[in-house]
Amino acid sequence: MATLARDVAAHDPLDVSRAELYRDDVWQPVFARARSEAPIHYVEDSEFGPYWSLSTYKPIVEVESLPDLYSSEKGGFTLTRPVENGVTMPMFIGRDRPIHTAQRRTVAPAFTPSEMQRLSVDIRRRTAEVLDALPWHSEFDWVDTVSIELTTQMLAILFDFPWKDRRKLTEWSDWMGDIELFRDEGLRQKRLEKVYEAGAYFKRLWDAKVDAEPTPDLISMMIHSDAMSHMDHNEFMGNLILLIVGGNDTTRNTMSGLVYALDRFPESRAKLEADRALIPNTASEIIRWQTPLAHMARTATQDTQLHGHRIREGDKIAMWYISANRDREVFGDDADDFVVDRANARRHLAFGHGIHRCVGARLAELQVGILMEEMAERRMRVNVLREPERVAACFVHGYRRMPVEITRY
Ligand code: HEM
Repeated sequence: MATLARDVAAHDPLDVSRAELYRDDVWQPVFARARSEAPIHYVEDSEFGPYWSLSTYKPIVEVESLPDLYSSEKGGFTLTRPVENGVTMPMFIGRDRPIHTAQRRTVAPAFTPSEMQRLSVDIRRRTAEVLDALPWHSEFDWVDTVSIELTTQMLAILFDFPWKDRRKLTEWSDWMGDIELFRDEGLRQKRLEKVYEAGAYFKRLWDAKVDAEPTPDLISMMIHSDAMSHMDHNEFMGNLILLIVGGNDTTRNTMSGLVYALDRFPESRAKLEADRALIPNTASEIIRWQTPLAHMARTATQDTQLHGHRIREGDKIAMWYISANRDREVFGDDADDFVVDRANARRHLAFGHGIHRCVGARLAELQVGILMEEMAERRMRVNVLREPERVAACFVHGYRRMPVEITRY
C-alpha cells in the first residue's frame, strides 16, 4: 500500500502512458482534463522517459503533416522504454523519406479497391463459416472465437499463408507487437525465439515463391517488386512482420470493440439493426470510438515551435489518437458516445494522417463491414455478459477476453 501511495504521488497526473489507465478503462477523464487544460503537455518523467503529450486533433495533424521535422525513424514510432534491447527489425513504418516512400509503394498495390474486391469473396465465405459455427444462447469468448479467428484468417488470405498453420501468425504477432513484453528479461528472450521461428518459416515461404510465377498475394508481390529486391533478408522480414503485426491487434480489437459498443449503446444498435445502409459508416465510427492503437510517436529532428511550445531537437512526441478522436471541437459534445450515424465519423485519426497513414485501412474496413453484414444476415445480436478483460498497455487499445451470448433479434 505504501508503494502504491508513493507511485501515485510521484507521477504526473497527465502522464497518460500508464498502462493501468487502459487496463481499468479509466483513461477518459484524464484525457478530458488534458484536452481542456494542457493539450500540448511535456511529461518530464515516465516509464518511457520524458515526452510531449498531444491530446487534441489539430496539433496531431500538424505533426503528422511535417514528417521531415517530426521523424518516425530517429527515436521509434511508439513510446519505447529506455531499457529495451530486443532485436530491432527495419520496417517502413519506422523509416523516413525517401526510403519510406519506396518501400510503402511496394506493398500498396495489395490494398487497392480492386484487390479488396478480390479478397472480399474469400473473406466473406470464411466469415460466414465462423459465424455459422457459433453456439446460440450459451456463453463463449468473442475475442478468441471470433475476433482473433477472423483476423488471422484475413491475414492468411492476404499472405497466402498455409491455412493449417495460420494461428502461428497470431502467435508471432502477439509476441512481436506487445511492447509490454519488454518489461522482463525472460520474456525478451522468449520473444527473440519467436522472431527467429517466424524468420525461418518465412524464409521457407520465400524460397518456395522466389522462383515461381508471381501471384497476387503479398509475399510474392514483395519478392517481385523493385524496391524490395534491393533489401536484405532482415529488412524483408521486418516489413513482412510489420504487415502482420499492423493488421493483427488493430482489426481484432475493432471487431471486439464493435460488439462491446453495440451492447453499451442500445440506441445505436437499434438503428443499425433496422438499417443495413448504416454499415459502412458504422465501420468508421467503431474504428473512431475504439481507436485500436492509442498512440504513435515521433522525434523532432531540429528545434521548433508547436502552437507556441518550444520543442527541442531529439524531443519525443506522443500523438494520442485515442484522445483526438474524442475532441469535442471536431466530433461534438457526444464525442464519447458510439453513434452509428455520426456525420463525420470518417474524420477520425485512428489510421493516423499523412505519409504514414495506415496502408491497410481499406482492408480493416472491409473485414469489419463484412462481419456486420453477415451478422445482419443472421439477425445476430451479441450480448456482452460481463465486463471484458482489457489489454494493459498504452499502445494497443483492446480486449483480452469478452464473455458473450448471442440471441436473434
Ligand atoms: C500504419 C492503425 C489495420 C498495416 C498505421 C498507422 C496507424 C494504423 C495509426 C500509422 C502509423 C504512423 O503514423 O506512425 C491501424 C488500425 C487498423 C489498422 C486502427 C484497423 C482498424 C491495418 C491492417 C494492415 C495494416 C489490416 C495490414 C494488413 C499497416 C502498415 C502501416 C500502418 C503496413 C505502416 C504505414 C506507413 O508507415 O506508411 N496503421 N491499422 N494496418 N498499418 Fe495499420
